[in-house]
Amino acid sequence: MSETLYKERFDGRAPDEVRPMKAKVGIIDSADGSASFETGGTKAIAVVRGPRTLHPQHMQNPKTGILRVSYSMMPFSVWDRIRPGPSRRSEEISKVSEWALSSVVDLSEFPNTVVDVFIQIPQADAGTRVAGLNAAAMALADAGIPMREMISAIAVGKADKTLIVDVNKEEEDFGEGEGATDIPMAITSRKKEIALLQLDGKISIDELKQAIEMGKKACEEVLKVQTEALKKSKEGGIADE
Ligand code: CDP
Repeated sequence: MSETLYKERFDGRAPDEVRPMKAKVGIIDSADGSASFETGGTKAIAVVRGPRTLHPQHMQNPKTGILRVSYSMMPFSVWDRIRPGPSRRSEEISKVSEWALSSVVDLSEFPNTVVDVFIQIPQADAGTRVAGLNAAAMALADAGIPMREMISAIAVGKADKTLIVDVNKEEEDFGEGEGATDIPMAITSRKKEIALLQLDGKISIDELKQAIEMGKKACEEVLKVQTEALKKSKEGGIADE
């Protein structure tokens, strides 16, 4: 097999090294729950409203509350301005985030209600859906929504033949050799189940298995940052990282 064309990461990280992470819980007073999560140049904010009675009434489920997730990037989050309003991409990310979070949230105590999660991306350097999920899981916990487990997420990937974690935008655009592969994934905190796995690019089954293992390890680091931020907010202070 020929050598990889991506030997050193652009920002000097080791292949399994995540970017510096920061998390805060309880950042918006008017919300039922809120949190922020940052990794490198990617910043996500999540706000939770609810449970509230769901309107229109015909959408209510008398057996359980429902979770509704809305993801959007702010117009100034990337160099090219993002056009405000829904796009195919934002609708897809909202849906997959909703599915991932629904796998751990238990709204059976709140029939006929909705819990809204608003994810906003003020600054994007790839991996925004996973940063959004990390913030959303903390915001749901902050709102006191019953959760069976936490969710921690990371984007793993491949630049030419090199497997890497927490892919940044420059790496996501790597065009040489086999190009770039992006694999956003989310792992549950106790059962270590996969709550989200998407794949864009080209990868062998063996490499994919290795990438998932790297992602699972990185998610442990994410979980520590989330847990610490939640602990600090319960103690009455705000976590710095
Ligand atoms: O953000 P994520 O990796 O989850 O999703 P993506 O669709 O693979 O987007 C990758 C990155 O491309 C984003 O994080 C942004 O940095 C950038 N992007 C952009 O510059 N303009 C867009 N309209 C959408 C994404």
